Amino acid sequence: MGIKTPLFKPAMTEEELRAIRKALFSGWIGLGPKTQEFEEKFAEYMGVKYAVGVNSGTAALHLALKVLDLKPRDEVITSALTFVSTNHAILYNNAKPVFADVYEDTLTLDLEDIKRKLTKRTKVILPVHYGGHPAELEEILDIVKARGIYLVEDAAHACGAQYKGKYIGSFGDLTCFSFHAVKNLSVGEGGMLTTNNKKFAERLRKLRWMGIDKSTWERAKSKKPYAWEYRVEELGYKEHLDDIHSAIGLVQLAKLSRLNQRRREIISEYNQAFKSAGWITIPTERPYVKSSFHLYVIKVPAGLRDRLIDYLGRRGISCSVHYFPNHLYKIYKPYRVRLPVTEDVYKRIITLPLYPELTPVGINRVIRTVLDFGKLIANDEK
Ligand SMILES: Cc1ncc(COP(=O)(O)O)c(C=O)c1O
Repeated sequence: MGIKTPLFKPAMTEEELRAIRKALFSGWIGLGPKTQEFEEKFAEYMGVKYAVGVNSGTAALHLALKVLDLKPRDEVITSALTFVSTNHAILYNNAKPVFADVYEDTLTLDLEDIKRKLTKRTKVILPVHYGGHPAELEEILDIVKARGIYLVEDAAHACGAQYKGKYIGSFGDLTCFSFHAVKNLSVGEGGMLTTNNKKFAERLRKLRWMGIDKSTWERAKSKKPYAWEYRVEELGYKEHLDDIHSAIGLVQLAKLSRLNQRRREIISEYNQAFKSAGWITIPTERPYVKSSFHLYVIKVPAGLRDRLIDYLGRRGISCSVHYFPNHLYKIYKPYRVRLPVTEDVYKRIITLPLYPELTPVGINRVIRTVLDFGKLIANDEK
């Protein structure tokens, strides 16, 4: 059986295609004016002073921790229920991931466990806004301010999410976004760092571009005789965004709130259909946040999860599990601790198809097939 309903689908139209065409033939497709425009508009949208474009969410996390100059024994409190980029970025910076547990309902970092994991060496708290649901930012900010440490947010899922009426992107010292193919704002591959700290922003612009003090675009438009000259001030990386991806990003940013609103409508149909099925736990949204609903994650009894994935898969509906707990991967063995909620909940979570272009037929197919599975297991139990 072919796939009738994929798990994700980027919301692309002729408008993105026109923007790509225009960028392609503009005479400048690298890091240049479109990237600058995208950064400015992104910062304005999120209500933050600076945005720095990079070529992935992973690069954003890598450079966010790099700019903090972590030392080898510095500790970063993080989640294990995430894509490995979050935690690889800590290892890229030779720091130590300290895993804290998550809340069972929102799957974001548990404040009490964060507090238990704090030590003299804690330098950063790195919450993941899981599925688009913001972590408990006010309390986390209280902790980081009291201790003089940093808040770096993994907002790969949270483009357009809000916490207490403000967009994610303006809270932490640094916030990391992903524009990967399946994200709420997608450019194919890309990412963004946001910050209110001018020094961080200036250094990030160098770090993403080989440590060079001026981008090629800045030099090309300069009238000075030594415009070709630049300084290399530190060991940087080739992790910048380019004008083709930024052109797509600008179109996607302009429709982000509409796309996220459509996600919300689909979710309310799902929730309505599943809320009375006793074997399904629908996702929660705390009253003071507005999730960007990157993922629609339900919980089912552990013994049924894989059977449900198989049942849906055989009927052309793709689903997945976000995520296998990172601390149980071999590479993270040296940092392994017991995380009772994470270790239990990952066996019960399943991500169902969610994307703005999911049609009423697709939504009904998912709902009907999940509920049919429920009837099947109820009959099995009789
Ligand atoms: C939670 C989380 N963090 C980080 C990333 C990394 O983003 P990217 O794929 O753009 O490198 C992802 C993307 O898949 C993610 O889901």
